[in-house]
Amino acid sequence: MAGGERLTLAHISDLHLPTIGGFGPHHWTVKRTLGYLNWQRGRKLSFTRSAVDALIADMAGHRVDHIAVTGDLINLGLPAELEAAAGFLKGLGSPEAVSVVPGNHDIYVRLNSDPGVARWREYMASDAFGQAVLAGIGARADGFPFVRRHGRVVLIGLNSALPMPPFVAAGLLGGQQLGALERVLAQLKAQGLARVILIHHPPMASLAPRRRGLLDARGFEEVIARCGAELVLHGHNHTNSLVWADGAHGRVPVVGIAAAGMSRIAMGRHALARYNLLRFVEEAGMLTIELVGRGLSVEGGVVAEVERRVLKTSFALSGDTAGA
Ligand SMILES: [Fe+2]
Ligand SMILES: [Fe+2]
Repeated sequence: MAGGERLTLAHISDLHLPTIGGFGPHHWTVKRTLGYLNWQRGRKLSFTRSAVDALIADMAGHRVDHIAVTGDLINLGLPAELEAAAGFLKGLGSPEAVSVVPGNHDIYVRLNSDPGVARWREYMASDAFGQAVLAGIGARADGFPFVRRHGRVVLIGLNSALPMPPFVAAGLLGGQQLGALERVLAQLKAQGLARVILIHHPPMASLAPRRRGLLDARGFEEVIARCGAELVLHGHNHTNSLVWADGAHGRVPVVGIAAAGMSRIAMGRHALARYNLLRFVEEAGMLTIELVGRGLSVEGGVVAEVERRVLKTSFALSGDTAGA
């Protein structure tokens, strides 16, 4: 970005694209059976493809440079669902224009020989800049963390999802991924770049109970305290939220987003479908992040602006100067 230019990132999460066929007897694990009953009893009343499509159609009317999808594209981790979601991503944009991190419903049960979310690999891969950053650090075998650069803004994708027992929706980053994240954050800070972290689970212990939260949230918070970051985007809670993490160079906004597929509130505790536009405006080496929320304000309504705020006023991009 040159002076005055802006990068616009769209954040969308928890699409929960309606469950389709593809069930074989070997797919019926206890966890999937319970998940399927949960879908039939409640979720299918709330989640619709039309809500997702309405958000994406609205997005097309704004100048979006990149789309970040923070997981739970599907429901039961079925191969047929994963395949359908791969087709959905292709329609959403090219792998260069869309970044994805998986959620607990995408990596739902152990899949043995099936490739699972690796079907979405191109959307979860480091670009050439990121590969160079990670060359001296090392990513996990699944490619996480991934690093992608857009001008002075760098996206860092984390995988917090792994198969869990029934009734558990928790996530875990693990020591290897946390260690790599710490080194990536430090290196990008030294290069004077803005660092945006994408993760499915809310990454602070205060944001979710242990049964459905990030089990090593404390470890994540410690990494942020040591290295800082400019923005964290997450999903999973199906609510809109903003909290601040203590970072080495100032407070870090941690933004949660409503579920993109939520067209009706059946359980009375979730927010309606929405996506956020994050606008990074650079002027004279300073960066400002603006947030514009667009979504449904009433069931059956149209997508419109529902929130607008400045998340972070100008902070220096130079690695030598402390941020706001
Ligand atoms: Fe979800
Ligand atoms: Fe989730």
